[in-house]
Amino acid sequence: MNTTFLKACKGEKTDYTPIWIMRQAGRYLPEYHTVRSTCSFLELCKTPEKAAEVTIQPIDILDVDAAILFSDILVPLEKMGAALEFQEKRGPVFPNPIRDKAAVDKLGIPDPEDDLGYVMDTIRILTKEFKDRVPLIGFSGAPFTLATYLIEGGSSKNYINTKRMIYENPELYKALMDKITDCTIEYLKGQIAAGVQALQIFDSWAGVLAPCDFAVAGIPYVRRIIAALKEVSDLPIIYFANNGATLLDQSLTSGADVLGLDWRVNLDDAVRRVDNKVSLQGNMDPLALFLPEDKLEQRVTNVLEQAKDARGHIFNLGHGIVPETDPEKAKLAVKLVHEISRKMKS
Ligand code: CP3
Repeated sequence: MNTTFLKACKGEKTDYTPIWIMRQAGRYLPEYHTVRSTCSFLELCKTPEKAAEVTIQPIDILDVDAAILFSDILVPLEKMGAALEFQEKRGPVFPNPIRDKAAVDKLGIPDPEDDLGYVMDTIRILTKEFKDRVPLIGFSGAPFTLATYLIEGGSSKNYINTKRMIYENPELYKALMDKITDCTIEYLKGQIAAGVQALQIFDSWAGVLAPCDFAVAGIPYVRRIIAALKEVSDLPIIYFANNGATLLDQSLTSGADVLGLDWRVNLDDAVRRVDNKVSLQGNMDPLALFLPEDKLEQRVTNVLEQAKDARGHIFNLGHGIVPETDPEKAKLAVKLVHEISRKMKS
């Protein structure tokens, strides 16, 4: 088993810098399209053999140091009782947004095995298959990010319904967040029991909150999840607050072993601010994969150099790889990270 990723998460010495890529299983890979053409996206998430197959694709194709479970952060919300559709042009849609007490009261807490057994089965297939290869990362959304989808009914520009609930009806917002938090704790405990070796909590929209609102409406729920998980396991937990440079001090109180960073912050600045308390993951602009090869090499070198004093560094993009990316460029980036970091560390 390649344990470089797990070691870097815990701040142990490694021979080279491990890399995986957010959304590494997905639409930029022709191999993904081949599987996806046989069913809808949600069916793919719910068919363990197919979900396991697309999870493995980037390990074989790119040579990354960790696999991430193929699913979606919104999958457990459907089992809380919120109907979910993925529409071809619009992305995820919740046709009945959650905006009043009756709707919040109706939401349930799914049982990981009884209600989300297809996710647990996918993990079991993968941990068997991957026993001697790379670690498997499980994941969830962070409560604030999940709440935005439920309250807005899908993606949003300015999060008006979510922020209005936070400001106008904080008790209702708290009731919703408590339920999402309890659901997420059970869901992630289920993933640990099924065999994942690390977890990432995606807070994709944390950066739309002012720091004073994040302090009340965002980070406390993340802290609660991580504290509950740390009671049952010490596997590495990564917290990724996208667009979260202004929230870094608060993210440091999350209890995570690793903080994920987007590209809007300089890694060396982040290294100074986290003061060796956590490892860091990130943070090359996903669009940097469109640079010509020599410039890409410079960019990779630059990210690695900025991270050289980190307790541990896991190379990643600052957000998901975009569907238009040439897989050959992603492959090259992985090779460059491995080669350049090995030289820097020797
Ligand atoms: O490779 C991996 O990273 C694992 C799989 C994964 C997916 N979604 C697959 C997916 C993971 C970890 C996610 C997380 C996710 N989903 C997030 C957090 C990460 C981030 O990007 O900020 C969010 C916000 C979502 C919600 C979501 N899912 C949206 C907004 C969309 C539509 C837009 C888009 O990127 O397609 C999805 C769909 C989705 N999730 C796809 C994939 C491969 C595309 C579905 C398809 O095949 O048509």
